Amino acid sequence: MALLEVRDLHVGFPVAGRMVEVVRGVTFSIEAGEALGLVGESGSGKSQTALAILRLLRHPGRVTRGSVRFEGRELTTASEAAMRSLRGSSLSIVFQDALSGLNPVFPIGTQLTDVIMAHRGLSRRAARDAAVEALGLVGIRDAAGRLGQYPHQFSGGMRQRVLIAMAVACRPKLLIADEPTTALDVTVQAQIVALLHDLRARLGLALLFITHNLDLMAEICDRAVVLYGGMMMEDAPVGALFAAPLQPYSRALLECVPRLGDRAGSLRPIEGASPVPGRLGPGCPFEPRCGVALDRCAAERPPEQRRGDHRVACWAAAS
Ligand SMILES: Nc1ncnc2c1ncn2[C@@H]1O[C@H](COP(=O)(O)OP(=O)(O)OP(=O)(O)O)[C@@H](O)[C@H]1O
Ligand code: SF4
Ligand SMILES: [Mg+2]
Repeated sequence: MALLEVRDLHVGFPVAGRMVEVVRGVTFSIEAGEALGLVGESGSGKSQTALAILRLLRHPGRVTRGSVRFEGRELTTASEAAMRSLRGSSLSIVFQDALSGLNPVFPIGTQLTDVIMAHRGLSRRAARDAAVEALGLVGIRDAAGRLGQYPHQFSGGMRQRVLIAMAVACRPKLLIADEPTTALDVTVQAQIVALLHDLRARLGLALLFITHNLDLMAEICDRAVVLYGGMMMEDAPVGALFAAPLQPYSRALLECVPRLGDRAGSLRPIEGASPVPGRLGPGCPFEPRCGVALDRCAAERPPEQRRGDHRVACWAAAS
């Protein structure tokens, strides 16, 4: 049994009296201890997928179909109390913006200690010791001395470390990291990625790492799921995806990664406009931009198929 199994997940928002689907039948799983990258351009449904797993979708967004199982237990229908006890203990998330995850008016020690007390049932004193340990785990030196400091007294990278400490303090089995490094500069990004890699090894964490940055993803993930227009396009081991992507959108995405010798920071965007939820047809969402589209691509959703160790949704890759 996989640690997390997402099956045919649909997420919709009611807009002008009808349901607009932003996640449209996404299926993937994560084994215990595995690191899975969730990649795709802005608006492809990565964050809504993560929020749906944790049942943190913003009202009026909701799961309209599908299932999310964590350790075999269905989460889409679990009680709110059960979800609260799961979140932050077995299943944690860190977001891009570390400031929004921390309360500016309380010292970080209080915030960490509160989370630990709530989930591990420890006394305040024992929770404080666990907080010091968690800060040490994420590489914050003089952890005991920093418990009394406020979020604004930490740099962006250090704040992200504090949030990661909070997320792993209760030893979750799965950590979801939604663009945890996007707001940080390049050197700090690399440090945070190295930290996640290290924590995964030390704590045996499974990781769902959401990113635009394929290079960072390749550094820590075993496997990647490529999303486009709310659909899964390809699911493959990272090495195989980089060496031989089978899906035209995956290929286009990989061609956008700046190569050695490109002008610094030069991005090569995929030609054509990004898909707009609610205005997508029944077929493949990449069809308007796809160089190898077939007649049926606009009309019929491409079926998901296994190709070796890849899962691919594409008519051109269909047998
Ligand atoms: N409250 C909402 N109402 C309607 N549509 C929404 C709402 N929140 C998000 N969406 C839409 O859902 C789609 C998927 O959004 P999501 O945040 O999952 O994208 P993403 O892949 O995480 O993008 P990014 O890389 O920019 O973070 C987007 O088109 C977005 O506009
Ligand atoms: S299904 Fe058709 S349009 Fe979509 S990626 Fe494959 S070939 Fe291109
Ligand atoms: Mg997002």
